[in-house]
Amino acid sequence: MRRNIVAGNWKMNKNFAEADDLINSIEETLRQYDTTDVDIIVCPPFPYLELVSDVSEDSNFFVGAQNVAKFDNGAYTGEVSASMLKSMAVDYCIVGHSERRKYFFETNQDIAQKIDLLLQQDITPIMCVGESLEEREAGKHFDVIRKQVEEGIFHLKAEDMQRCIIAYEPVWAIGTGKTATKEQAQEIHAFIRKLIVEKYNDDVAQEVSILYGGSCNPKNAQELFSMEDVDGGLIGGASLKANDFIQIACSFN
Ligand code: PGA
Repeated sequence: MRRNIVAGNWKMNKNFAEADDLINSIEETLRQYDTTDVDIIVCPPFPYLELVSDVSEDSNFFVGAQNVAKFDNGAYTGEVSASMLKSMAVDYCIVGHSERRKYFFETNQDIAQKIDLLLQQDITPIMCVGESLEEREAGKHFDVIRKQVEEGIFHLKAEDMQRCIIAYEPVWAIGTGKTATKEQAQEIHAFIRKLIVEKYNDDVAQEVSILYGGSCNPKNAQELFSMEDVDGGLIGGASLKANDFIQIACSFN
């Protein structure tokens, strides 16, 4: 059954001392709330994974990475492999974030390779999809998302597909303060779920959590999460403040 999920993507923010403060505030804040109905995931930059994973041992959140290499271990200077992540108690990994597609030229094929390597290590991929403003204004958003989903993840067998999480993040909403309306989010989430039903079946589609990302904050989270096919959020800016992040995680009705 699809789970409620809130994942915080710290992106390339915080020095070590600030990261230490943030994760400890998250841990302290979490103690005040009952979050049994939601899986909370914290995705710090690579150098802070050990710190975050140490704190997670006595807390109620999981650890995720923001990216993974598309190759196995070896001579790939500067890269971090899925097996390295596994050895650091990482359970989730974001793949195909629009910032990686844009600044690091990641293709749907790269993303498909990364998803395979993660699943081999039993790490849950959080695959991001989303259209640009230009694509939405041209009415191409359904086609763009269909292609990203088909090429990025639909090579998987049903039993692997149902181990994945998908995040719909309209590029025009990321870091802009311009959130998708709950109707816009629901429309795309339902579309993605329908694609999964058509490719696999309804049982598989009911296992895959689909998260919304893009200027999600404590004020708008509840109405977004109230929509039928919105199973939670991938949170950027608001995940850098412990109170905001936990408030979002407590926004399921
Ligand atoms: P934002 O980022 O919440 O700052 O818009 C979301 C994301 O990029 O995952």
